[in-house]
Formats: sequence, structure tokens, C-alpha cells
Amino acid sequence: MTMFDVKNIRKDFPILTREVNEKPLVYFDNAATSQTPQQVIDVIVDYYQNYNANIHRGVHALSQEATDKYEQARLKIQKHFNAAKAHEIIFTSGTTHSINIVANGFSAILKKGDEIIVSALEHHSNIVPWQMLCERTGAVLKVIAMNQKGELLLNVYDELLSDKTKLVFCNHISNALGTINPIKEIIDKAHEVGAAVLIDGAQAAPHLVADVQALDVDFYTISAHKVCGPTGAGMLYGKEEWLNKLPPYQGGGEMIAEVTFEKTTYADLPHKFEAGTPNICGGIAFGAALDYMNSIGFEAIAAYENELLEYATQKLLEIEGLKIYGTAKNKTSVISFNIEELHPYDIGSILDKLGIAVRTGHHCAQPIMDFFNIPGTVRASFCFYNTKEEIDVLVAGVKRAKNMLL
Ligand code: ALA
Repeated sequence: MTMFDVKNIRKDFPILTREVNEKPLVYFDNAATSQTPQQVIDVIVDYYQNYNANIHRGVHALSQEATDKYEQARLKIQKHFNAAKAHEIIFTSGTTHSINIVANGFSAILKKGDEIIVSALEHHSNIVPWQMLCERTGAVLKVIAMNQKGELLLNVYDELLSDKTKLVFCNHISNALGTINPIKEIIDKAHEVGAAVLIDGAQAAPHLVADVQALDVDFYTISAHKVCGPTGAGMLYGKEEWLNKLPPYQGGGEMIAEVTFEKTTYADLPHKFEAGTPNICGGIAFGAALDYMNSIGFEAIAAYENELLEYATQKLLEIEGLKIYGTAKNKTSVISFNIEELHPYDIGSILDKLGIAVRTGHHCAQPIMDFFNIPGTVRASFCFYNTKEEIDVLVAGVKRAKNMLL
């Protein structure tokens, strides 16, 4: 093990000391949502105790304070992802909202016969909005296939790309299998045919830092609750030229320049996409969550999580009949598995009785489950505050579930 001070880090997360079903909580559902450190909880409490006010509107002190903190959070997010301009960071309610802003915007740009490419590894949030977009515009959806390891077939991608391709969408890391996709290659190839690219970074953000300028990506999306922040907050990064081209997603206050009953003109970026009172506290806490993760350091996080992944993979595979889905060479700390014909839900329910939280089911990625011809999997996803001892508890729990169910 590297010298990663997980014991001290765990002290930051009050929830990790609780019990579930009279057993110490073992939280392995981090790909669904991460836990929140006291440092971020304090920021949330401070907001409501000391400067709760609406932003960009009031001349009064509280409104000014809240506005300053909210805009400081935007700057933190800009810096974290190395965006060229602060107004390229749009606050959203999360990745799904971010993707829908772009999908809706492209309704005004796409024509019948244009093509959109998605990957076989997508979450439903990166399939359904594009299908809806195709229905509205007559564009056609194409899919980059994958192999049995859960790796995308780039030769298939090459064949799909043409001058008809207008958009390419791919997740940075698969939520169901943990595959880390070769997004730089995907982006560069799309640009060669003049297509724009949206990368869904929801599952990548907890494990690595994406540099949007180095990637030259057109849109990048994340949710704050995957990076130790609150739910209901997230980010859409978009290149300025693209965000200027897309029409607004929602009408309302704050997104306008001038309103008359005859005509409305829209506000400049980022406000054009931020109608209504936003999740002010959530945005500020999002910035604090990135501060927290950066204080630990993403290199240290990735190295430690890789050790957890290797350890858990090896221990779980010692269980006879256990099969892991998602064996890509480049993968993150997510293990999806089944045991023979046992239903994932039954295994998950027994694990829950033992205080172990995992996700079971199709993980909002039904096409992946169809590919493997299974109804779903048990998914254990690890975070930097997990330990090898907790993995031992999981392995013992899975063995017990197998013995009870088979
Ligand atoms: N997309 C989240 C997950 O994979 C909710 O669990």
C-alpha cells in the first residue's frame, strides 16, 4: 500500500461511523453518489446560517455576499477543469440537466439525415436525450460497439464517422463497467469530420481531472454529488463559440437582456443558460467539494483507488462462480459482478442486511446488460475513503450470500 492516510480521511466523513442493520456501514455505492465531508457540510450550514439570499439581484449585503461566493465557486470549477473562460462554466442541476441543455440546443441546428454517434457504454441519460433529438430533427443515431471486455471498438467508430456526423457523445468512464474510454482519440477523430463532441464526465470526475482545453472537447458535464458535493448541482462546460450558438434551454428570470411583450433578447453567457433562482448553496458547496478533493490530490486518490480495485478484483475472483463484467485494461474502481444464475437483487439484499451498500440492477445502462444477456449486476464502487478491511467484509458477505442462495 502507498502511504495514503485513509484513517484520517475517514474522520472527515461523519456518515462513515454509522451503523446499518446493527453492522458498521460499508459504503460501496460511490458511483451512484459519494459521501460528503464535514468541510462541505460546514459550507452548506454556513450559507443557510449566515448569508442565505438570492444572487445577482439585490443591492443588499447578503445578496452581494451570496453572489460573490457563487461566482467564486464558478472560478474554482473553471480552474479545476482548466476552462479558458469563467462564462464557459454553466451551473446546472447535474449531468442529466447539462446533457439536455445541449440536446435541446442542437434541435435548432440538426437537419434530417444528419448523424449522431453515441457509444455502446452509455448511461440512459446519454441515450434518451439524443433519441428525443433524433425524433425532433430526423437525425439518425449510430452506436460505437464494444467488445466482451467492455472496451469500445475504435475501428467501428472510424467506419461510422463521415461528413454526415454532426455530434458524438461518449462517457469518459462507464458507470456500469468502469471502463475508461479513450476520449482524446474519440474527440480528435470527430473533429476531423467537423463534428462536435460532448463527453459525460460524471463518473470520471471523482477519479481524475479532465483538462478541457488539452482535450479540446466541445462540451463536458459533471454532477457535484459524485465529487463529495451536494445533489442537485452540476456543471456544463461548453466552448464559448458553441454556447453562443445554442439557444437557451429554459426561459425565465436572469437569462434575459431585455423583455417586452413583442420580443426578448437573451443575457450573455453564462446567464443565458441559468434561468430562475439557481441552487445557490449547491453551487457554492460544489466549489468547496472540489477544494476538498484537491486538498487530498487526484494523483494520490487514483493510486489508492487502483490498489483497492486490484485487491477487490483478486479477492472476489477467488469466489467460485463469480464473474466480473467489465475487464477493460483501463478501468476505474468499479466492479460489476454476478454469481452463476443468482439474481443481483437477492445478493444486494443480503449484503444490505450485513450493512454493505452496493447497487444492483441495470445501472441505467440497459443496452450494456442486453449485450451481456443478463438482467443486471451487483456493482461495488470504491472511493478514496474505503479500505481493504471493508473489501474483506464485502467478500465475506458475498460468500455468505452465495451459500444462502445456492
Ligand atoms: N448514474 C448513477 C449510477 O451509476 C446514478 O449509479
